[in-house]
Amino acid sequence: MLRFLILLGFVLTLYLGGREVLQGRLTVGTYGFMVFIVQDLLWPFTFLSEVMDEYQRAMASVRRVMGLLDTAIAIPHGNNSLPIEMIAGKVQFDHITFAYNERNDILKDLSLQIPAGATIGIVGATGSGKSTLVKLLLRFYEVQSGRILVDDIDIRDLNLFDLRRCIGWVSQDVFLFHGTVAENIAYGSFDASHDEIIHAAKLAEAHEFILQLPQGYDTIVGERGQKLSGGQRQRIAIARAILKDPPILILDEATSAVDNETEAAIQKSLAMITQNRTTIAIAHRLSTIRHSHCIYVMDDGQIVEQGKHEDLIALDGIYASLWRVQSGIH
Ligand SMILES: Nc1ncnc2c1ncn2[C@@H]1O[C@H](COP(=O)(O)OP(=O)(O)OP(=O)(O)O)[C@@H](O)[C@H]1O
Ligand SMILES: [Mg+2]
Repeated sequence: MLRFLILLGFVLTLYLGGREVLQGRLTVGTYGFMVFIVQDLLWPFTFLSEVMDEYQRAMASVRRVMGLLDTAIAIPHGNNSLPIEMIAGKVQFDHITFAYNERNDILKDLSLQIPAGATIGIVGATGSGKSTLVKLLLRFYEVQSGRILVDDIDIRDLNLFDLRRCIGWVSQDVFLFHGTVAENIAYGSFDASHDEIIHAAKLAEAHEFILQLPQGYDTIVGERGQKLSGGQRQRIAIARAILKDPPILILDEATSAVDNETEAAIQKSLAMITQNRTTIAIAHRLSTIRHSHCIYVMDDGQIVEQGKHEDLIALDGIYASLWRVQSGIH
């Protein structure tokens, strides 16, 4: 609009001034001067539009920042602190029921006890609520009824930082940040030394492929880790969890994208790492959780079978049929 008005002003000056000159009422010198002076006068107005533009953008940002600051905190901190050294790692889900907002119940009156230091496996059909269960333990959402206890303390009474510091979580969809490989592994354990990072990467079977990257540990992984393959991202996430050295470790489909040989190698490291550490392993590939202390089969938000691998095979239920499909025994 502003530019259009300037153009209009300029054209009018040319036209009207030109007419005056032709009729002899204005000298050519004055006319020329007028044309230039009008230009000089009008052009600065374009800055006005830039100022308006900047102002609008700044206001939009301010509104967003203020909106964020005003957002009520959905998950409040509890008052009890639980130093990481004092955590034994006992986890208990006590009759929990949960639904994402305005949806049907995903978990229905589910109870589960994990003794400190035990390794349990969770299997179940896709969408049966396995990932939801561990997200509740991390307190990303609040249960509608029931309690979740860590070392017999309700997690709602715990300081969120303490709770999350004691849990290492390899999520199903790995999140890497735009930074170097080393920074991504050390995310969450920021004071780790370079040697510790390499050690963790070796345990996660990531060391070798990292060395083959253009700048090794200093290679930038790209936004969300897009310059790495799915299996490479998973191994970095495992290294991150190993480096954190948490009393409770959650592996949600942690090795689903790596080949069988690498998986076997990772399993060997994990067997060592998960000793004396509470571990919750979620897997579709049953071979990865076969040796757990206890395996839970989830279906439709409930635990329908539980026990050791051999017991569940003998039970001849869902687990046994899954095992038959995967091992090819009919
Ligand atoms: N953030 C969310 N908001 C609403 N519904 C969700 C959300 N996350 C998951 N769900 C729903 O909850 C149900 C359970 O999801 P969940 O991720 O726990 O399944 P899962 O057992 O981990 O499945 P998979 O084996 O595929 O990982 C699904 O039906 C899903 O649609
Ligand atoms: Mg899942």
